[in-house]
Amino acid sequence: MTIADDLRQLAADLAQEAGDLAKRRRAEGVALADTKSTLADIVTHADREVEALIRDRLRVERPDDGFLGEESGDATGTSGYTWVIDPIDGTVNYAYGVPMYSTSIAVVRSGDPDVLDGVASAVCAPALGELFTAASGEGAWHNGQRLAVTRDWPAGALLATGFGYDPRTHAGDLATVARVMPLARDLRRGGSAAIDLAYLAAGRLDGFFERGLHPWDYAAGALMIAEAGGTFERLGTVDEARRMCIAGDAALVKRIRERVEAAD
Ligand code: IPD
Repeated sequence: MTIADDLRQLAADLAQEAGDLAKRRRAEGVALADTKSTLADIVTHADREVEALIRDRLRVERPDDGFLGEESGDATGTSGYTWVIDPIDGTVNYAYGVPMYSTSIAVVRSGDPDVLDGVASAVCAPALGELFTAASGEGAWHNGQRLAVTRDWPAGALLATGFGYDPRTHAGDLATVARVMPLARDLRRGGSAAIDLAYLAAGRLDGFFERGLHPWDYAAGALMIAEAGGTFERLGTVDEARRMCIAGDAALVKRIRERVEAAD
């Protein structure tokens, strides 16, 4: 067993346990705890409870590692590893009772969102009964099957995207969609970027683009895509908080990037 494999096993166990807790809390009824950047950007009590569960487990299992969580902030470690956590990615789906939500867990080397140096990751979608994992140099996996991104899209690419919570950004994002659409056979907006990226690694989507994602939304999926032979990149932009993420086979990423940048 390599260290990456050990960490993948831990990430998978944590994601499954955390996802199961989120699913149980969902069945009991969802209580809104707060809003964040805008009224549409919500956090539930379950988001906080699930992140606390993961953080507590890591304090015991990996006390020297750093932590970066969507709900409870960051802590620097001494081991050189940082855990990047989204306890419930797709919180709006979760609040509405749509099953496309997930627990996303990645362990990375630097903790710098621009350095995509994942070591291991797991995305658990408990209401869908699915768990995706990856380990650096060891592949990306689902149900014992090794994942590979798609390489061609003769009828156009099946793309996924997402929109941020700030209504002022919607017009710009829709203009981007209009520029990218000529590449598409169709477009999905699932509501959990972590699931979108895991699906892309699994060949269930051809390409992905979204502005303004946070490291906890993409860290786990970015490693899965790299391990499945694909490319995940963040474009530089004047607006640091709204950088564009693009993923897919390298050739498709290039074609999406050309269209995204056509008006930037
Ligand atoms: C959100 C989801 C969504 C994406 C948003 C994210 P959250 O994460 O990943 O698909 O479009 O940009 O913020 O807020 O539900 O953890």
